[in-house]
Amino acid sequence: MKFINKLVAVVLSCMIMVAVAGCGGAGDKASSTNGNAAKSSGKKIGVAMPTQSSQRWIQDGKNMKEKLEKLNYIVDLQYAEDDVQAQVSQIENMITGGANCLVIAAIDSNALVNVLAQAKANNIPVIAYDRLLMDTDSVSYYATFDNKGVGTAIGKYIEEKMGLKEGKGPYNIEFFAGSPDDNNAHFLNTGMFEVLKPYLDKGQLVCVSGQTDFDKICTLRWSQETAQKRMEDILSGYYSTGKNLDIVVSPFDGISYGISAALEGAGYKVGQKWPLITGQDAELMAAKNIISGKQSMSIFKDTRLLADKCVKMVQSVLEGGQPEINDTKSYNNNKKVVPSYLCTPVPVDKGNLQKELIDSGYYKEADLQ
Ligand code: BGC
Repeated sequence: MKFINKLVAVVLSCMIMVAVAGCGGAGDKASSTNGNAAKSSGKKIGVAMPTQSSQRWIQDGKNMKEKLEKLNYIVDLQYAEDDVQAQVSQIENMITGGANCLVIAAIDSNALVNVLAQAKANNIPVIAYDRLLMDTDSVSYYATFDNKGVGTAIGKYIEEKMGLKEGKGPYNIEFFAGSPDDNNAHFLNTGMFEVLKPYLDKGQLVCVSGQTDFDKICTLRWSQETAQKRMEDILSGYYSTGKNLDIVVSPFDGISYGISAALEGAGYKVGQKWPLITGQDAELMAAKNIISGKQSMSIFKDTRLLADKCVKMVQSVLEGGQPEINDTKSYNNNKKVVPSYLCTPVPVDKGNLQKELIDSGYYKEADLQ
């Protein structure tokens, strides 16, 4: 009997040991290799993303979730499908749900002031993801790409491909900008016009519609449909008498798709006086369009890199330590200059698409067939 009792006790204690080890699970394993991961286990990170209607944000969300979970954070990833109020509610729920840190890519950068004040009152650090959070001091860091650099790269691409430095032209050009409530749209537009305005002034570029002011060319919520409608109106209003449109500045691949649809509707054909069309994000569809000649270029923003930098910011606000910062001047949100890390945007066209998008492992060759 004594022996049986002893056996039961041994078996029981083994079971308890296994159970304890099992509960510790990934956290314990990680702690032997990564001190931060041990500290982070159990902390909740709310990740608020704008929409799943564009491929880039799906990738951003997926990367952030994977990378944070690898460090044993618990991730609440939410998409608000470009509904500003829905995003406010999602963030409120993250706060009441006990989030330890918030990572936010805003739909409307100005609309979150109150909910961010709530986060601050609850001592929850906030990191702005890709889009700056405006008019608030409740933001610790900003991880993004060089947004003015995106515009500069678009402008320089047009300058080079159209031989503007060599004095070529005149070319007819139309401009599209992003959403007025997204700080990035303004930065991009500034960078692009800095390069192209001198050529408008010299007459090498002619904006036939005359629409160059941001208020006229902006596209609320970066909407493909809105852009298509505006392009249709411009084509029927200003180009129906035989003028050819040579260049369209587009700040986002989704907008480029709308522009292309309008051009096709007006009888333009790829390869036959089809305009140079720019873009941003190097979405899969855009990459295919670059190969087929429908779109000339896009701006590749490696979301894997952005997520890496942002995760480091999360770790530093929660566990201590210094995140990587490479800009402490550019991003004034009207309340403070937000310390930022700017990743480098890379222009891609037919010439370097293979190297940048496929050899880098961002897409598989088969995805582009
Ligand atoms: C991002 C771009 C994106 C656009 C539309 C901007 O805030 O910086 O990469 O194309 O939003 O989603």
